[in-house]
Amino acid sequence: MANIAILGFGVVGGGIALVVDENKDRIKKSAGEEVYVKYVLDLREFPDSPYADRVIHDIGPILADDSVTVVCEAMGGTKPALDFSLRALRAGKSVVTSNKELVAKHGDELLAAARENGVCYLYEAAVGGGIPALRSLKTSLASDKISRVAGILNGTTNYILTRMKNEGGSFDDALAEAKSLGYAEADPTADVDGLDAQRKIMILSAIASGKLAPESAVKAETLRNVSELDLNAAENFGGTVKLIGLFENGDKPCLGVAPFFVMNDNILAHVDDVFNAVCATGAATGDVMYYGRGAGRYPTAAAMVSDVCAAINGSGRLELPSAFEKIADDGVKPFDELPFRRMIRVKCSAASAAQSAREIIENAFELDSFYAEDEVDFCALTTDAIEAAELAEVIGAVEAVDGVEAGVVSYRVLE
Ligand code: HSE
Repeated sequence: MANIAILGFGVVGGGIALVVDENKDRIKKSAGEEVYVKYVLDLREFPDSPYADRVIHDIGPILADDSVTVVCEAMGGTKPALDFSLRALRAGKSVVTSNKELVAKHGDELLAAARENGVCYLYEAAVGGGIPALRSLKTSLASDKISRVAGILNGTTNYILTRMKNEGGSFDDALAEAKSLGYAEADPTADVDGLDAQRKIMILSAIASGKLAPESAVKAETLRNVSELDLNAAENFGGTVKLIGLFENGDKPCLGVAPFFVMNDNILAHVDDVFNAVCATGAATGDVMYYGRGAGRYPTAAAMVSDVCAAINGSGRLELPSAFEKIADDGVKPFDELPFRRMIRVKCSAASAAQSAREIIENAFELDSFYAEDEVDFCALTTDAIEAAELAEVIGAVEAVDGVEAGVVSYRVLE
């Protein structure tokens, strides 16, 4: 029998206990032996839980118990999760986690500690919840060079955008609904400001390239400024707006998160509601897509328990990469230097201003299409791919026109 410990008995930690209980036989077959939850570490007591007598408040007994071979870290955040995880690895226990912040910030250190101690550090649930994307990228695409990963990596924001597209209304209304349905946290900052997706694209790029980019070099643009007008304009151009995490594997890795205009012929335009999708492009394999539930108790817990099985049966030690090389800011190509076609939306208070603004844009860029909502609001889609600095210069000139309302909006176009 393999004993495991769960750190954090919240939504995901509690889900692990349920999955272990409900899928006992299948888990035994995969792991090679029965899996038993011996300890649950939490600050709280759970007097009504069947696990009440296994709840402890100190990591010490878990680290000291040689019969515990796997620790499931479902605490979130980096403190004390980093310390507990490193101590568990150094005590010769494998660690599995759903903690994207920890893997994105300290994956290099944690994987090194696992390697030095001959155990596993597995994190399938950290990206895309129940979607088995990471193991597939690490194993099934191990022979290929992954040149690009593009994904819808956050369920809360995808729900908000789908709701705005289908029912109209403001970003704030859609966010309030996401909160009432329990998708968004009380503090939705990490979701709506792109930080959750930023951590996930950092992990995906580290798997694809072996290099872990520093958070400071990974752009994350907020979704808060997206409006109903933007979604209408996108629809008129035959697409929609999605929060995309993108990684391009050039001479240097280049990665970031931003709201993109996605044409309807791109499959990511059709990934709706709380669903996530990861599209990887391999030089030999071509495009591969993983789709499913990116969050929630059961999908996340099931992914963690599958990692528990991989740690126990030994297959987890065979996965590549077994190391992430942490790189400096200058080892990453800035996201703003990656040229993209752009969708530019301008709102004016007078038709003459709209005319002048349009002329500036047409003189600067070749346009693929143009759409006027009315005589003062318009949207242009460029043919050329443009770097952020060049775009900023043109937008500056447009904003200087008398009668152009502040805040010209621009979206990168996902090809
Ligand atoms: N808050 C995240 C999401 C869940 O909405 O996708 C897991 O990262």
